[in-house]
Amino acid sequence: FENPKSASINVAHRIANIIRKKQAENTFAVLGLATGVTPIAVYNELVRLHKEEGLSFKNVITFNLDEYYPMLPNASQSYVTFMNENLFDHIDIEKENIHIPDGTLPLEDIPDFCLNYEKKIAELGGLDIQILGIGRTGHIGFNEPGSAPNSGTRLVTLDDLTRRDAAKDFGGKSFVPTKAITMGIGTIFKAKEIILMAWSRKKASIIKKAVEGKISGKVPATYLQLSNNVEFILDQPAASEL
Ligand code: GLP
Repeated sequence: FENPKSASINVAHRIANIIRKKQAENTFAVLGLATGVTPIAVYNELVRLHKEEGLSFKNVITFNLDEYYPMLPNASQSYVTFMNENLFDHIDIEKENIHIPDGTLPLEDIPDFCLNYEKKIAELGGLDIQILGIGRTGHIGFNEPGSAPNSGTRLVTLDDLTRRDAAKDFGGKSFVPTKAITMGIGTIFKAKEIILMAWSRKKASIIKKAVEGKISGKVPATYLQLSNNVEFILDQPAASEL
């Protein structure tokens, strides 16, 4: 795409089409959502479709990819706050249909929580669509280098580069949590459609590795080369090294 705006509008309209199709079938749309700067314009367009074109989210169930650990939901850096501010506060989604990994759990409760997260997605028939950004380590969600292709939702340790990139949001790297709860590569793979978005020159070299590089756990996004249901939606600068 020529620019992130036109690309984001395209992605938002595809999500809206899934929601409308499921409404016509009287069933739920199950969406896998992402955080970061990359999907913000997608969320803006979904909010616009709700406010100006009457798109309803009453039949939408969402699962977010990840959350820092530990993290209080009302902290300004939490992905709960991000999703509320950028999407959920502005649409008619039912609160009980929103799922975001819980950054407040005691450590010993995390494995059960993660199994349950997988189970809920599976019981709904899987994710109809999963949107993704990409980190400079090649992470998707918070699946850092070393993640296994069949990994499920779990507690992970964040890469140093990821923590450096997040430092601006936390007022310094030392304040960035060292861990996160993330859906696994295997969880993402089960989605019926996967859309990875990347904008700007900053993402060009990791996009080249993800699309054309050797498939390896060193760059987790390379595993997407193994899926038939994945699309990379890029602006021209992000695609410039392909
Ligand atoms: C974080 C998120 C990822 C996101 C990445 C890139 O690490 N956990 O899901 O893709 O950042 O963020 P941005 O879109 O701000 O470049």
